Amino acid sequence: MSSNTIEKLKWRYATKRFDSSRILSDEKLNILKETFNLTATSFGLQPLKLVIINKAELKEKLMPFTFNQTQVRDASHVFILCIERKINKEFIIDHFKRVEGTRNTPRDILEPFEKDLIASFTEKDAGEIRDWMINQLYLTLGALLTVCAVEKIDACPMEGFQPEKYDEFLGLDKKGLASVIVLPVGYRDESDFFINMKKVRRGVDELIIDLD
Ligand SMILES: Cc1cc2nc3c(=O)[nH]c(=O)nc-3n(C[C@H](O)[C@H](O)[C@H](O)COP(=O)(O)O)c2cc1C
Repeated sequence: MSSNTIEKLKWRYATKRFDSSRILSDEKLNILKETFNLTATSFGLQPLKLVIINKAELKEKLMPFTFNQTQVRDASHVFILCIERKINKEFIIDHFKRVEGTRNTPRDILEPFEKDLIASFTEKDAGEIRDWMINQLYLTLGALLTVCAVEKIDACPMEGFQPEKYDEFLGLDKKGLASVIVLPVGYRDESDFFINMKKVRRGVDELIIDLD
């Protein structure tokens, strides 16, 4: 990593106050959308959706379901990272059809993998599958935060919200989705008290073990 990369990572912080007058360009938004799509997932199944909100009226209405954290009202866009409510056989078959269509991989090569994957998901209970999907979702969160830092976009990852209220209010449940993380993105308000706060970290020497 070049030191420039470290500078960008240090520039990033969990933004508490956004400048509501600054809106992300379509170009920046597309970079974040592509990041979500290009992130690696287990088996490449992408059991996720990214819901994006930019209407001021709607963002404001999210405040009470977000413990009145103002980021959802003031950020340019609010990203809601969701998992699927259910992964069934059809979801897996659909994935293999996409592989076949995209890469022209012969059916007889794909079939054993498809069968194995369907069998292994059939054995798992709903809680296990949910945990697995959440793991995939957090990978996309990491990618989005890093790309935001590189692109000088501010963001605040948030678990401090009521997922069931979001799901009902935004009709996510009817779309077969469950919200897991809220990520307001946009630009910091220069008056944000946290901009110049030092990062609190345990330190590379304590976190990394070099086994010689
Ligand atoms: C999964 C996750 C959930 C978080 N939830 C909230 C939240 O609800 N509200 C908030 O203001 N910050 C939230 N944060 C921000 C963290 O407090 C912050 O990232 C951490 O203190 C490190 O500070 P930094 O990101 O500014 O370096 C969350 C961070 C993560 C990774």
